[in-house]
This record gives sequence, structure tokens and C-alpha cells, in this order.
Amino acid sequence: MATREATSASPEAGVASPAGEIETGASDTIVLEASGLTKHFPVRKRGREALTRGRRSVQAVDDVDLVLRRGRVTALVGESGSGKSTVARLLAQLYPRTAGDIRLHGESVTVKGGKAFRAYCRKVQMIFQDPFASLNPVHTVRYHLTRALKIHDRAGTTAEDLERALQELLTRVQLTPPERYVDKFPHELSGGQRQRVAIARALGADPEALLADEPVSMLDVSIRLGVLNLLRDLKERLHLAILYITHDIASARYFADETLVMYAGRMVEGGDSETVTQNPAHPYTRLLIESAPDPDRLDPGTDAAPGEAPKEKGSGEPPSLIAPPSGCRFHPRCPVAMERCKTDLPPRFEVADAPGHWAACWLYDSAVRS
Ligand SMILES: Nc1ncnc2c1ncn2[C@@H]1O[C@H](COP(=O)(O)OP(=O)(O)O)[C@@H](O)[C@H]1O
Ligand SMILES: [Mg+2]
Repeated sequence: MATREATSASPEAGVASPAGEIETGASDTIVLEASGLTKHFPVRKRGREALTRGRRSVQAVDDVDLVLRRGRVTALVGESGSGKSTVARLLAQLYPRTAGDIRLHGESVTVKGGKAFRAYCRKVQMIFQDPFASLNPVHTVRYHLTRALKIHDRAGTTAEDLERALQELLTRVQLTPPERYVDKFPHELSGGQRQRVAIARALGADPEALLADEPVSMLDVSIRLGVLNLLRDLKERLHLAILYITHDIASARYFADETLVMYAGRMVEGGDSETVTQNPAHPYTRLLIESAPDPDRLDPGTDAAPGEAPKEKGSGEPPSLIAPPSGCRFHPRCPVAMERCKTDLPPRFEVADAPGHWAACWLYDSAVRS
């Protein structure tokens, strides 16, 4: 298999030298961009609700904007249920969206399957949380990778081409020597090795963007760093644009260039990772950081929206997304909520401490501050 550096026909491939070195300035190219991304899942009415009018839906993702740049990792951080996976699935075009736009290299794309979906997948690949579930237990590593290469026309024409491509993929994800791994079944590998195979399979498409949905949260703590370092290596060598989804804001600081914080289906804060994690502006981000070592400590008292059953005690989960709180969705849990937070949805305000740092919070409304 020829590497991206050597063969990709896209004009941007010229930015990388044949050795795969990064050239400065190349990382600003926007690969994938979403604006106003919205997903409401319709829900069935139960019991007496069936008699009421109107349709109910889970407002899983609302009005989300995000940008993935070449050679950069963007972290998407939030509690379980905040809509992170839904964002990834929308970006991967696995779900139709309720509203909003997704642009790949500036071009608006909506695909529903077939050829167009395959062409899109070639550029945008997803890695899932559970590598065991995402690999078929009855097939070997060779089968999984060969299939990916063939689907994306990258298997070459001869048996030697294919063998070389397989070796290269395994080497890329540091499963070396490749011969030791290529004929193994998923159950013969460790969790970390399985996730590496899943990453190799994604690389089989020679993608430009990688959507990694909690790629290390199912792995032993001791091997997480190795997999994150591998992803970082891919970002640097292949200039991949990576969306790194996590509930662990500390890992975002370590691994991501930029961090976005999501709460109950909405983006609440964003900026470079150092600033967002060291100088969090939104009260929710602060809470997330304070509670990072022990997420179960949060007070669940205000979790349930009116009319909804309270969530499991001690879980500190976001509110119901069927009837999300009015105004700022965080206001029922916010220690500094003001009157207007209950009624008015806060737009993005600039936080003046660092360029590009913003928070969707009325605390940063300069009209009030000045
Ligand atoms: N297919 C679906 N149908 C109905 N509701 C869904 C579906 N997928 C996710 N949801 C709901 O959307 C919300 C966000 O889920 P998800 O994106 O998985 O969050 P996260 O990945 O941050 O944990 C949750 O309330 C979840 O129950
Ligand atoms: Mg998820």
C-alpha cells in the first residue's frame, strides 16, 4: 500500500513532504465543519400521554457548531447523555439530521447510503468505544483489514500488494511485527491491541478525518496513554483531523489542541485546550473540572426536568432532553444562575482571556459587564 504522503491525489497532499513531515501552516485547513447541527429523536408516547397533542422528542443535539482542522485534535467533552455520540454519528452521516449543515472541504454533504455514503466514509472514518463489539469475533485481523482496503479500492491488484498494504496498516498502529498479529482473532488480542486493529481498519480508507468516540474509555488505564499517543502520532504523520470524544476533561488537556464542552445537547464552551481546562469560563466546565476525580459526587437533586422521573441518584447526569430546561439548559444546576438564565438562551460570548475562547453564558455578556 502506498501511504497517503506518497499517493493521495488531493491537492493538499502536496503539503506533506514524501517523508511525511509536517509543514507549518498546513494545519489550518478546515476538513469537516458543522453548523446548526440538530438532532431530535422522536419518542413514542406512553399511557395517558398518548391522548395529548403534539409530538415528543429527545432533543439530543441542538444547534451545534464545530470545525475539525487538518492535523489537529478537537476534544468534545461532556457527561454521559450530553449528545456527544450523536454528534459523531451525525458527522459520520450515520443518522439523518433534523437541521443544520455538514460541510466536507467547504461542500455541503448529505448522504443516505450507497455510493455517496462510501465516498464520504473514505474521507471521514469513525472509531467506536468498544473495540470488541466493533470487530467481528469470527474473523481474523487479516479479514477485517482486507475488507476495509477492498471496499475503499486500496488493496492493490496482486496478492503482494495486499500483503504489503496489510503490513503497512499494522505497522502504522504499532502492531509489530505485523506477522504476529495479522492472522489473530479478536479474542486473541488485548483490548488495546483490538482498538489498534479498529484504528488500522479506519486507516484502511486513507481518511482525512477520524471521529473517535471515547476510544480509550473501555481500555485499562495502563494502556490508554499508548492508544492516545498512537492517535497523536497519526495526527502528526498523516495530518488527520481528529474529533476526540471523551467524558474525561483531563485527557482533553493532555491530548487535544482544542476543547469543546457540551452540556445537555448544546455546546457551552470552547477554546484551546490549555485555556479551557486551566481557565474554565462556563460554570458547567468548572463543575466538570472540580468533579473530575469523582464524577459521582455531584448533587443529582435538580437533574430531572418537570414532569420527568428523576434520574438515578448520585449519577449527576444532565437533565431530561425530552423537556430540557428553558433558557440556559444548565441553569437548574448552576451555582451562579441569574434570573435571565431561566428564560433566555445565552449565545456564544467571547471570554477575553485568550483568542478564540468563548462561553455560552450570560456571565460573559459584555453589554452587562461594561
Ligand atoms: N437512537 C436514539 N433514539 C432515541 N434517543 C436517543 C438515541 N440515541 C441517543 N439518544 C438520546 O440522546 C441523548 C444523547 O445521547 P448520546 O449522544 O449517546 O450521548 P453521549 O454520547 O454524550 O453519552 C441521550 O438522552 C440518549 O438517550
Ligand atoms: Mg457516547
